[in-house]
Amino acid sequence: MSKLWGGRFTKNTDQLVEEYTASILFDKELAEEDIQGSLAHVTMLGKCGIIPEEDAETIRDGLHRVLGKIRRGEVEYAVSDEDIHMNIEKLLIEEIGPVGGKLHTGRSRNDQVATDMHLYLRKRVVEFVGLLHRLQTALIEQAKANLDTIIPGYTHLQRAQPILLAHHLMAYVSMFQRDAERLMDSYKRINTLPLGAGALAGTTFPIDRHFVAQQLGFDRVYENSLDAVSDRDFIIEFLADASMIMMHLSRLCEELVLWSSTEFRFVELDDAFCTGSSIMPQKKNPDVAELVRGKTGRVYGNLVGLLTVLKALPLAYNKDMQEDKEGMFDTVRTLQGALRLFAPMIETMKVNGERMREAVNQDFSNATDIADYLVGKGLPFRQAHEVIGKIVLHCIQNGVFLLDLKLEEFQQFSKLFGDDIYHVLQPETVVNARNVYGGTARPQVEGAIQRAEAATAQTLAWFEELSAKA
Ligand code: ARG
Repeated sequence: MSKLWGGRFTKNTDQLVEEYTASILFDKELAEEDIQGSLAHVTMLGKCGIIPEEDAETIRDGLHRVLGKIRRGEVEYAVSDEDIHMNIEKLLIEEIGPVGGKLHTGRSRNDQVATDMHLYLRKRVVEFVGLLHRLQTALIEQAKANLDTIIPGYTHLQRAQPILLAHHLMAYVSMFQRDAERLMDSYKRINTLPLGAGALAGTTFPIDRHFVAQQLGFDRVYENSLDAVSDRDFIIEFLADASMIMMHLSRLCEELVLWSSTEFRFVELDDAFCTGSSIMPQKKNPDVAELVRGKTGRVYGNLVGLLTVLKALPLAYNKDMQEDKEGMFDTVRTLQGALRLFAPMIETMKVNGERMREAVNQDFSNATDIADYLVGKGLPFRQAHEVIGKIVLHCIQNGVFLLDLKLEEFQQFSKLFGDDIYHVLQPETVVNARNVYGGTARPQVEGAIQRAEAATAQTLAWFEELSAKA
């Protein structure tokens, strides 16, 4: 069979042009969605009397047969048929004869491909909300198990103030909650149907777009046919959301890489999530964390790539837009890979609480609290800051820490010091003193965990409802 659009041509397509313009090698990933969309479209054609009902029935039957063949791997796609849409149409005509040619009535590949992409991303977005939920659950479990574990909190990667490990982990739960909410919000825009826009201007056939939308589970249809076929905002939005998730993951990766180093020894990642060295037998490398960190760059690249493709593109469809796919598929795969591995990696991570405690005991992260102590005794904060600075310097010069100082030594710097300073300086006291909403005191972190569990239960409910639908 020749080209589906071959009528106005007198020459065959140049072989290299055929290869260059074809998208079948990557858009074959849209086969299921393409058939899903076609089934709804042809049902509508029959219902509206645009084609006879029995033809619609034959075509539906043919599409199901083609789908079966694709699923069983019995289909060989042809580069000469350019993309998944024309490959499937050809397969359909081979299956049921010329009546298959009625499927494309009132439709263009422009509104067809946009519909496929909406169907595809809609599923993925739901899946990612589910995967984020799994990761949040793993982090919350680790937080609950570490409500008594104190670590140094850092700014500038310098020890700043002691915090609960649970508090640190819950910061990531908050980030992933925002990510899940962003995806859920984007779903509204993804779940809009382009089909019926035709090539760009609509169609002369009396189609029923709302009927198609309803069959496919779309909440609404695009208002404007030009916008319907040339909108790729929903993909860009997804790529931006994915970039943000990878950015969050890569920050956590960086901490895991640091924390599992010999210098820190705060955590140990499970053997199942690390790899060895081909030359250094002692090595256990946090490869997964490193790779997620590394792949973040490519995910950003896909976002910037598509933004650039769309920049200054005139309305409506342009072939440039075929470039929306590879980056999107790549981002979906990369994010799936990262999120699927991350939850079990966090679940199986061993926390070295003793080592964390040792670190906390050997730093000056309780210094702010002596200043607050002197403020409590009436000294202006600025003066207190100065006094403590001198005490810290004294400690550094003598190779000791604040808790090693005798009361007389404290009193050499200020007469306001009393015996109670030793209680104030205990890491537990320091942590629990930050008893403000959102702070690291244990009751606050417990409250935060409860609220996070309520919020993630809601995202889980959303995921369950929509994955049943998709
Ligand atoms: N393979 C094309 C794409 O992905 C489908 C749309 C083609 N439309 C056209 N007018 N050539 O963008």
